[in-house]
Amino acid sequence: MAQLAIKGGKPLLGGSTIGQSWPIYDDSDRQALIRALESGKWCSVWHKRQADSEVGKFEIAFAQYQGSEYGCAVTNGTTAIEIALRAGGIQPGDEVIVPAPSFIATAMAVSYVVAIPVFVDVDPETYTLSPESAESAITDWTRAIIPVHLGGYPADMEAICRVANRHDLLVIEDCAHVHGTIWDGHKFPVADMGTFSFQAGKTLTAGEGGMVLTNSRELAAKIHSLSTHGRLEGHPFYEHHLVGTNLRMSEFQGAVLLSQFARFDEQIKHRDANALYLSEALQQIPGVRAMERDERLTQWGFYYWTFKFLPEVWEGITRDQFLAAAKAEGLPIGSGGHIDPMYLNPMYTESQTPYRKHDCPNCEYAWKNEALSFPHATFLGPQEDMDLILAVFQKIWDNRDELRS
Ligand SMILES: Cc1ncc(COP(=O)(O)O)c(C=O)c1O
Repeated sequence: MAQLAIKGGKPLLGGSTIGQSWPIYDDSDRQALIRALESGKWCSVWHKRQADSEVGKFEIAFAQYQGSEYGCAVTNGTTAIEIALRAGGIQPGDEVIVPAPSFIATAMAVSYVVAIPVFVDVDPETYTLSPESAESAITDWTRAIIPVHLGGYPADMEAICRVANRHDLLVIEDCAHVHGTIWDGHKFPVADMGTFSFQAGKTLTAGEGGMVLTNSRELAAKIHSLSTHGRLEGHPFYEHHLVGTNLRMSEFQGAVLLSQFARFDEQIKHRDANALYLSEALQQIPGVRAMERDERLTQWGFYYWTFKFLPEVWEGITRDQFLAAAKAEGLPIGSGGHIDPMYLNPMYTESQTPYRKHDCPNCEYAWKNEALSFPHATFLGPQEDMDLILAVFQKIWDNRDELRS
């Protein structure tokens, strides 16, 4: 009789779910929305903001939490990258180095401002931008690097900033996954600018939303101005100084983000405690392992938790067969989040959109053979949920001959 659910056996999880459904909300979010509604001020233009503006308060609270001087709220995480590139002076035809794997927004924002994304490889352990690969891709036309803290695991910012300093490059950190992560006592960004997303799946969300954080007063003023039709502080409202656009976050989004923010830090700690328990226990299960966690990573505010399938241990069973078997048992497991190379998208392969790519063997290996992940909400339940994950993995291992057949 079949044991594994994928072969017709009984799914180990039955109908039970792991973690929590996302997003989480309660009456405090409802009240926040009513507060914004009844204020009668639904729009917030940065230099005309009232002291009680929802967006203004959220900018200050989030920037302070992440350890940055200035927060510039915008419509989403993609426009945050676009406006950071514009504020940083990136011009059409400039080259911008990006890691091969990420959500397409990282590269698309570069193409959208008519610059040229240059795809480079990642570190084989953390799947974040390889400083060596980045340095080897620099040409006379390179102007910026966008490291991505993929899944919330920090890119090697010390080495990346050293490369950037040597070649006088702007560094914009794509922080869409890294809210709340603490590395060596600090949060992110650490470079010129960091861009965040508050889209529905993110660990802090209002359905949509974004922010650029920076310690530069000049860059913050420029981003604020560019995102509200080039207005300038101290000048008449209908006087426009820069070619900008409208990327303003609404007061409703600001209100929801503020109320979500009240439970955010506790959620990060809850997830990370479960993830640490799972990492430790995974050592007892053959054929899968947690990502090696640097001791400087004292709080991992992951968007998804990435770990590794070890093909050599499974003797003929592939990562995708394992993945299908784990899904059939009822696990909310995926193949490593945004580990697929962005350069394989039709916008690059089937159109004239200019780009350059270096060899990316680490990214391609992880994408095809190795990377596995769970979404962050998997870790918001009790510790017993982690035991269920372990039980599924053990079941697949014990029945590997059946899987192979
Ligand atoms: C790495 C990364 N960068 C940027 C974005 C873009 O954010 P948004 O969806 O808010 O535009 C995302 C969104 O998923 C992302 O994962």
